[in-house]
Amino acid sequence: MPLNTEQKTTTANALETQGIGKRFGGFWAVKDVSFSVKPGERRAILGPNGAGKTSLFNILTGDYVASSGAISLFGEDVTKQSIPKRIKRGLRRTYQHAYLFDGLSVCDTLFLAVAGVRGGWRQVLPVRSNDPRREEAERLADVCGLASFLDRMVLELSHGQRRQLEIGIALAEDPKVLLLDEPAAGLSPAERPLLSKLLLSLPADITVILIEHDMDIAFQTSESVTVLFNGQLMAEGTPEEVMADKDVHQIYVGGAHGH
Ligand SMILES: Nc1ncnc2c1ncn2[C@@H]1O[C@H](COP(=O)(O)OP(=O)(O)O)[C@@H](O)[C@H]1O
Ligand SMILES: [Mg+2]
Repeated sequence: MPLNTEQKTTTANALETQGIGKRFGGFWAVKDVSFSVKPGERRAILGPNGAGKTSLFNILTGDYVASSGAISLFGEDVTKQSIPKRIKRGLRRTYQHAYLFDGLSVCDTLFLAVAGVRGGWRQVLPVRSNDPRREEAERLADVCGLASFLDRMVLELSHGQRRQLEIGIALAEDPKVLLLDEPAAGLSPAERPLLSKLLLSLPADITVILIEHDMDIAFQTSESVTVLFNGQLMAEGTPEEVMADKDVHQIYVGGAHGH
């Protein structure tokens, strides 16, 4: 879709990239990717293993410094901004391989996210029952489907519940753009519909970009799809358009699709 630069000030995209890339030595993990996502849009990113999907997220969040191109969030150029600045602008992510503290409860984990604590939690834990941030933590537990597991230790959660908790953490402090890296990875067939349900129940104003191998989940929860291959944008459109694309069909049906 062509960028409409004239309307940019009034209808800024939630996220927009112009020719972004990431080079490791002589190898471009992401190459010349331009795409845009509208506020509130639900976008799936597909592509075989090694296509550059996680690297693309890393560039968007600032975990990687872009080797080329520019990124804007709601019309503001964030290409050179630090990770915390982008977080402050409302950009949040989950990781493909999550890290959670096994020794904390669900409630404490969400409380720390609400309190914006990244390390040094002894100062704020244990959570006092009259702390207003506890109420917010409980609200997040409800949103991510863990309301009845507040006192459960992270260690005791199922894999699917851990993924739900990661989404809960990412939802703390007013997220505007949520990047989810393979939230369904490792989920059992029984857990998958729960995740789809959670994704569909996210507040409508949050823009969601979802890397997903599970086509059912991707297509159930996303209105548009971007396909990466060898670090480059291969196809983009509605799920139907993308599935009808013969290159995409080739990589997904032709055997190049791997986990
Ligand atoms: N920090 C890094 N250093 C070197 N190569 C990397 C690094 N991160 C990713 N890559 C390479 O970039 C390519 C894309 O990786 P990645 O973004 O993880 O793909 P995907 O998430 O689509 O599976 C892979 O070939 C990977 O080995
Ligand atoms: Mg990945």
